[in-house]
Amino acid sequence: MEPRLSHHAALCILTLTFFTASCQNKAPTEVKTETPVQELKPVTFTAEDLKENLKNKEAMTKGRGVYSAKCASCHGGSGEGGIGPNLCDDFWLHGGLPNQIATTVYNGVKDKGMIPWGQILTREEILQVASYVASLRGKSTPGGKPPQGTKEERPQ
Ligand code: HEC
Repeated sequence: MEPRLSHHAALCILTLTFFTASCQNKAPTEVKTETPVQELKPVTFTAEDLKENLKNKEAMTKGRGVYSAKCASCHGGSGEGGIGPNLCDDFWLHGGLPNQIATTVYNGVKDKGMIPWGQILTREEILQVASYVASLRGKSTPGGKPPQGTKEERPQ
């Protein structure tokens, strides 16, 4: 009686293992085909372009609009941080100069949850929102996310 029972049990386990394995093999293939690979639109911008925008009231207003629509969900309504870092302090993971900010926004940060906005926004929008983010620096955000990264001098 006993050997028969264990034979049965072994068959059961074998069948179970087979089913679990076939399920696990299937899932990733399905996900892969649903995720299209998008290229970054090739754009160029210089530190000067960013400087111009910082002085341009209309560009800054547009930048604030892009920020509220696309960035506030992760970086907070006033840049105080949340899922993403605090954008009002003097600490930066990827550089706090306006053109460094634009570069981070354009490329995103792979595997860290920062979207490559170069796939989504126009060059103008990236410059506008980067200038707006640069202008947040030094704004007081009580209860904001604690600093992350390296302390940097404020650009003149
Ligand atoms: C889905 C969440 C999410 C959204 C939406 C998002 N970000 Fe981010 N962002 C992050 C995360 C997470 C990081 C931190 C990346 C890391 O750890 O390297 C980050 C980093 C950054 C940084 C670098 C900060 C530093 O310390 O160097 C900037 C600048 C930035 N985001 C700007 C933006 C702007 C502008 C937008 C809107 C166009 C935006 N982000 C939208 C999640 C987001």
